[in-house]
Amino acid sequence: MARAQAARYAVVGNPVAHSLSPRIHADFALQTGQLLTYEAIELPRDGFDTGLRDLQRRGYAGLNVTVPFKQDAFRLCDSLSDRATRAGAVNTLVLADDGEIHGDNTDGIGLLRDLTINLRFELARRNILVLGAGGAVRGVLGPLLDANPASLILANRTPQKARDLAADFTGYGKIESREFAALAGETFDLIINGTAAGLDGELPPIPRGPVGSDTLCYDMMYRLDAPTAFVTWAQQQGAAQAADGLGMLVEQAAAAFALWRGVEPDGASVIERLRRG
Ligand code: ATR
Repeated sequence: MARAQAARYAVVGNPVAHSLSPRIHADFALQTGQLLTYEAIELPRDGFDTGLRDLQRRGYAGLNVTVPFKQDAFRLCDSLSDRATRAGAVNTLVLADDGEIHGDNTDGIGLLRDLTINLRFELARRNILVLGAGGAVRGVLGPLLDANPASLILANRTPQKARDLAADFTGYGKIESREFAALAGETFDLIINGTAAGLDGELPPIPRGPVGSDTLCYDMMYRLDAPTAFVTWAQQQGAAQAADGLGMLVEQAAAAFALWRGVEPDGASVIERLRRG
């Protein structure tokens, strides 16, 4: 009797060797009894289009897309979900048998799920400060605004980028930009770090004061070996809770898995296992 063939998935990026996605999806497959393989595949920085067509020819059923290809993926899709359209970027591709490429973006919903389910933070009517105005932040603004916060303030090292990004999203909720210096004296319920400053162990130039004793500080970056610079800063400022973005990574993967396989895996148990090492 012929054995059922495992469906093939992968994450594509550059660099991608240290991605946790293969471990996460292998855990999900085990949990849900799904027969699939999931690899990390590095594509040349200028070779996304050719790489994608090649993987499509080889029968891959879906791909996750990471840095620096999320905008390339957006451009190449035949159809897009609403959330991918708003994000202007794609992190999940469904490669249909008939050759159609469908693009989605699960980053925002991954952040929302981590905040609301794992960290039990209610977003409605809260004051949110988001640091950064690059692609990572653009990807999460739509779902954050959908949750009806009282206000969402964007602050960025290059203020014009925050102004432009806020203008792009004004139709979706109460969003405005603010210069870092103008944040002095204000306290927020939730502060999300979406800058790349932590890659160099640095912090965005946040003035004193935005962290109150009830504030949740959330770093969209994560580290398994030590707290991120932003998490350490938040703890020093007396934040009620400080979390890094491992939960967001796992939850965006869970949403991609559900899209591909039609079953919802449990993210919390996988987050716990990854933290344990
Ligand atoms: P990504 O797609 O990961 O968001 P990006 O588009 O390059 O990457 O954006 C990086 C973000 O981190 C930007 O908001 C950037 O600020 P600028 O727009 O002023 O460049 C921010 N960033 C990077 N390094 C930073 C640092 N050392 N301090 C403060 N902000 C920083």
